[in-house]
Amino acid sequence: MCGIVGALGNHEVAPLLLDSLKRLEYRGYDSAGIATVNAGRLDRRRAVGKLVHLSDLLVHDPLPGKAGIGHTRWATHGAATTGNAHPHRSGPVAVVHNGIIENFRDLRAELAEAGLMPESETDTETVALLTRLHMDRGLPPREAARATLARLHGAFALLFLFEGEDDLLIAARKGSPLAIGHGHGEMFVGSDAIALAPLTDRITYLEEGDYAFITRAGAEIYDAEGRPANREILQIDLGQTRVDKAGFKHFMAKEIAEQPAVLGNALAHYVKDGQINLPAGVAFAGLDRLTLVACGTAFYACSVAKYWFESLAGLPVEIDVASEFRYREPPMPARSWAIFVSQSGETADTLAALRYCQGKVEKTVAVVNVPTSSIAREADLALPILAGIEVGVASTKAFTCQLLVLALLALKAGHDRGHLDDAQLAAHLAALARLPGLIHQALAVAPEIEKLAEHLAEAQDVLFLGRGPMYPLALEGALKLKEISYIHAEGYASGELKHGPIALIDRTVPVVVMAPHDRLFDKTVSNMQEVLARHGQVLLVSDARGAAEAGAGTWACLRLPEVAEPFAPILYAIPAQLLAYYTAVAKGTDVDQPRNLAKSVTVE
Ligand code: AGP
Repeated sequence: MCGIVGALGNHEVAPLLLDSLKRLEYRGYDSAGIATVNAGRLDRRRAVGKLVHLSDLLVHDPLPGKAGIGHTRWATHGAATTGNAHPHRSGPVAVVHNGIIENFRDLRAELAEAGLMPESETDTETVALLTRLHMDRGLPPREAARATLARLHGAFALLFLFEGEDDLLIAARKGSPLAIGHGHGEMFVGSDAIALAPLTDRITYLEEGDYAFITRAGAEIYDAEGRPANREILQIDLGQTRVDKAGFKHFMAKEIAEQPAVLGNALAHYVKDGQINLPAGVAFAGLDRLTLVACGTAFYACSVAKYWFESLAGLPVEIDVASEFRYREPPMPARSWAIFVSQSGETADTLAALRYCQGKVEKTVAVVNVPTSSIAREADLALPILAGIEVGVASTKAFTCQLLVLALLALKAGHDRGHLDDAQLAAHLAALARLPGLIHQALAVAPEIEKLAEHLAEAQDVLFLGRGPMYPLALEGALKLKEISYIHAEGYASGELKHGPIALIDRTVPVVVMAPHDRLFDKTVSNMQEVLARHGQVLLVSDARGAAEAGAGTWACLRLPEVAEPFAPILYAIPAQLLAYYTAVAKGTDVDQPRNLAKSVTVE
């Protein structure tokens, strides 16, 4: 996901833009750049790689000016090169962009006829060229930008800067978020409040289709139909925008360690006096089905929740990854809800799936970590997971908080539908209440895992096995490992192994078996024995009972505290996260910003 910043300041803006871009690093990027207007002159600097390269460039080749825009690019159209880095410029206009201009090829053909040829491979440059064309034909900046916006199809957050205009930024939002920061005689723009936190805590979020003419005096905002729009100025809690490692080596390590606290906060928010505290209207009694849609780790949270809704509430659940769901055109039962799970609340496929369901189901529900995000704003109901800012690209605390909120929804559904009586509900809530403490205990296996990770780091292939709700956890464990250590890993339902994947087993293949001592334990142990019989290296993740019964012959055995059966995936996520983290550290990969990945994928 790209990052956008802009400033109309009372001082030199280049250092301020760099600092704001640094606060957006967590989104993932492979090049960066800034442009400023100084004494009317528009100029830019761009560099491939981390922001330090841009910073070095600015030391040797400074960029003065009190008005500017900046960008961190996660490559979509065109490789990570200086020529493809933003800001893109054509004549008197420079542009930075987050999203995709879907009709850029058609626009390019039109521009070529007018003699305007691109210099880059990007869709974004088309926006600069088209705006320049309008200005060549006599339109002033505001009208030229407005005319350009009317021609663009796709998803975008855009920021324009113009030669000769050192008190004007033009911002536009369609699909990707954009926030305006109100300073004292200064104005700022950023992809989110995190970028603007050092500058102001007074934020206006543009709505879908909005555009804004911004000067140091303030912002004139217009809606998608071009009508003046009043958007609220929010006072942001800056404590929620702090982005620092707090002494940890990586954000991911910090966020793994934060899980007991953030889960405790979420429980305190959603469970009061033994009752589940959900907004009015969250009632499952008359529903025929739930549809759960998400991507990546969030999808694995949905996959675990499917087991919970079906076993605890007798409620049929369909799950799908958003990128498939949105094009399947699935029939949606009227008496059903669709729940969308997303840490960022900006994942393009999940947002598109939400829009597909609008008007087809009784209620759309967002389970998100960013209450001001697009998915939160467009759903009928948004339930915050309260994980706090998650900077590491690999999702950890957001995953366990998503699971917690989904577990509470499943318990509410079970109670609403008469599958759980008061006593059973109370027992399950008591089990959930023990989780922060159990997770704190589970974190104690970190030193053991750190040693195991040195061996895992040499593996070429790793398998993760699980049964029941531990199967999606096996998938999540495999995703964690591959996305930050770059080792090929697969998760399998342990009962599936003999239907083909067992052919992969030999002495070189570590097999991580996620198996609390539950009612499926013996079945999983049988599958584990099949692996041991073929000299596979089994790492058994269980509890003391499981280790005592099945630990013999394994490569290693991790002992977690006992946990109430339905909620074991929340606890067993911890060793999965730690295995990935320490293996990546052993391999020396970029743990917080793994190659090719973005924290939120706001493009298809
Ligand atoms: C998780 O570790 C990954 N970074 C990725 O799979 C992520 O879960 C997925 O892109 C969904 O993101 P979201 O939760 O912000 O929608």
